[in-house]
Amino acid sequence: MDARVECAVQQRQVLFLCVFLGMSWAAEEPLVYFVEEEAERGTLLANLAHDLGLGMEELSAREPRVISDQKIGFLLLDPLTGDVSLNEKLDREELCGPKEPCVLPFQLLMEKPFEIFRAKLWVRDINDHSPVFLDREILLKILESTTPGAAFLLQSAQDSDIGTNNVRNYTISPNAYFHISVHNGADGIIYPELVLDRPLDREEVPELSLILTALDGGSPPRSGTTLVRILVLDINDNAPEFVQPLYKVQLCEDSPVGSLVVTVSARDLDTGSNGEIVYAFFYATERILNTFQINPTSGSVYLKAELNYEVIQTYTLTIQAKDGGGLSGKCTVVIQVTDINDNPPELLMSSLTSPIQENSLETVVAVFRIRDRDSGNNAKMVCSIQDDLPFVLKPSVENYYTLVTDSPLDREERAEYNITITVTDMGTPRLKTEHNITVLVSDVNDNAPTFTQTSYTLWVRENNSPALHIGSVSATDTDAGANAQVTYSLLPPPDPLVPLASLVSINTDNGHLFALTSLDYEALRAFEFHVGATDRGSPALSSQALVRVLVADNASAPCTELVPRAAEPGYLVTKVVAVDGDAGQNAWLSYQLLKATEPGLFGGGRQRRGAHARLLSERDDNGEPPLSASVTLHVLLVDGFAALPAGPEAEAAAAPADPLTVYLVVALASVSSLFLFSVLVFVAVRLCRRGGAASAGRCPVAEGHFPGHLVDVSGTGTLSQSYQCEVGLMGGSGTGEFKFLKPILPNLAFQNLSVASCYLNP
Ligand SMILES: *[C@@H]1O[C@H](CO)[C@@H](O)[C@H](O)[C@H]1NC(C)=O
Ligand SMILES: *[C@@H]1O[C@H](CO)[C@@H](O)[C@H](O)[C@H]1NC(C)=O
Ligand SMILES: *[C@@H]1O[C@H](CO)[C@@H](O)[C@H](O)[C@H]1NC(C)=O
Ligand SMILES: *[C@@H]1O[C@H](CO)[C@@H](O)[C@H](O)[C@H]1NC(C)=O
Repeated sequence: MDARVECAVQQRQVLFLCVFLGMSWAAEEPLVYFVEEEAERGTLLANLAHDLGLGMEELSAREPRVISDQKIGFLLLDPLTGDVSLNEKLDREELCGPKEPCVLPFQLLMEKPFEIFRAKLWVRDINDHSPVFLDREILLKILESTTPGAAFLLQSAQDSDIGTNNVRNYTISPNAYFHISVHNGADGIIYPELVLDRPLDREEVPELSLILTALDGGSPPRSGTTLVRILVLDINDNAPEFVQPLYKVQLCEDSPVGSLVVTVSARDLDTGSNGEIVYAFFYATERILNTFQINPTSGSVYLKAELNYEVIQTYTLTIQAKDGGGLSGKCTVVIQVTDINDNPPELLMSSLTSPIQENSLETVVAVFRIRDRDSGNNAKMVCSIQDDLPFVLKPSVENYYTLVTDSPLDREERAEYNITITVTDMGTPRLKTEHNITVLVSDVNDNAPTFTQTSYTLWVRENNSPALHIGSVSATDTDAGANAQVTYSLLPPPDPLVPLASLVSINTDNGHLFALTSLDYEALRAFEFHVGATDRGSPALSSQALVRVLVADNASAPCTELVPRAAEPGYLVTKVVAVDGDAGQNAWLSYQLLKATEPGLFGGGRQRRGAHARLLSERDDNGEPPLSASVTLHVLLVDGFAALPAGPEAEAAAAPADPLTVYLVVALASVSSLFLFSVLVFVAVRLCRRGGAASAGRCPVAEGHFPGHLVDVSGTGTLSQSYQCEVGLMGGSGTGEFKFLKPILPNLAFQNLSVASCYLNP
């Protein structure tokens, strides 16, 4: 027998006592029996014979029956023993639901004699049901901003059992955010409440799944569970945050427009529009807005205009990221523009001096500054000019340079310099600038006029008309401008006795010389003076030249020789004398017949009326180079000249054994005569001057006996200036004239005088 049956037995005894005591009011007091639900079929509930106090035989004789209102047949009565037992399992929940107590009334009917006893079967609850949640999952949406302490009522579980077997407690799976608080409702139902312990953060835990357990009060308790899913709802509690607070970008200044500069990125932990970020320049100057643009969704910054390192080297952009909820974050983008060599060097001329004076040393011609707008190597420069110029570049501070003359300039050599100053930078690629300057060299009067000849010899035929243009002198000056303007002048003659001012004049502009008076060969055979050429520079420079004026005799031909047609071969025609101012070997002369117009002249061509021979004389044997001079002789063949007395020439020809002696004698005679003549001339000139009238002082001169012929005595070629007497011709004592030109310098010394004789060919 189990405990339940024992209990039932005890209760039956109690019942029995009640029934027994109250027999008289049996109709009012029902018999009460107890049974636990789910008791097995056949469980003995009561013994009617005992409860009614009847003997078994008596009871069975009265033919008892059990009658029930609601449920028929759930009790089984053994009519022989009076045992009442369960005919089926009873489910209290099915029979009564939540009603308590669950009592099944029934009647005991006796037929013989008829009697009804009321009875009840109290079906007692056992914990045979677990709490059950209607929903397998409970979804809760809780704002993350919800403050701790907030409670959320949850669906309660249901338990068919009643009383202590019903839901008594709830628990939640362990978690950091919630606990369960249990509330007793007015209807006696216990409600679970989810209470927030600490703030939620969607960004940390967006969702929670907890298991809610409902426990009943049975022993042992039974439980039921459901899932509580908690969605944490976002609020815009997070501002966008940039991945980097500072972006540093290097950007070439030649980056094309439209190129990507940088992409900034911000994160927002919120969701939805709270996490949607829009990028924009936060605070931007117009220059930045004109140079860069930003894609609002991607955060990419693009170049909108060309950069110029030389204008701006650094841009600082502040970019704002804003979410849909209005929160924002900022970052800074520093864009460093890098230089490329896009600027050629520049040359800024500060001063340029042109023209500059020649001869000046270390003269500053130009001062200039160079610069390059680039930086670094792109701004390093070298400066140069052409190599072959007399200028140098001198670097100074602050990229200043001076261009100075390196060596003296000579305008006469080069009057203009085109200087190309080249400035090259060291960037890649190298850029260069050329600056051309033209420097003119101004003239300094550093060149004296120079005469075209050191000396001029002018011939004037006597009896000339006054103001006759007798010749010109000319001087040139290599300077320029006024420094090259030459004026001519007459300088005082060496011989103060020569009345130069009355003899000649000079055109100061062109150097033309004019004879002022009619010259008289017999009075003045030659004179000389110096002319000066002066430029107009300051100070003026001058030079001078010697002018020798020879007066030619109208009447005679100095170098015409008369030769009788009948002259025999070997006939001495004439003698020429040459002098040389040099000494020693250089004055050793030799003579040579240079050229004869008719070689047969001296070879027997007697029919000829005239001929001339040319004699080259004065050959310096040892002079280097040999110098020479020539003289032209005119030889006239005359008839009836045979009566001419034979002169020393004939004698010399007759006695050619010792010609040298003869020549020496002739030479000595010439010198003596010359000296004598000079003295005579000198005295005569003095006398002429004193006499005043030219006719009165007419100087002695040999008269010609023959009609005049063209006189052509020329001292040509390379005779030095010291060849004072052009030529001396010595005739025979009776036939030839001793014709000569007056030594031009009074103190002339005939250092070397040689004589050549000219013979007819045999
Ligand atoms: C409910 O259960 C919890 C945890 O098991 C316990 O602390 C609490 O006392 C119980 N409440 C009741 C009313 O039994
Ligand atoms: C310098 O340049 C000028 C003009 O270009 C030119 O006329 C002149 O001949 C040049 N002079 C020299 C010396 O090159
Ligand atoms: C400078 O002069 C050089 C040589 O005369 C010439 O080639 C160059 O073109 C000139 N440069 C300028 C800028 O005039
Ligand atoms: C000298 O020559 C000039 C011109 O040549 C001539 O007029 C003059 O008559 C000449 N005089 C003599 C004396 O022959």
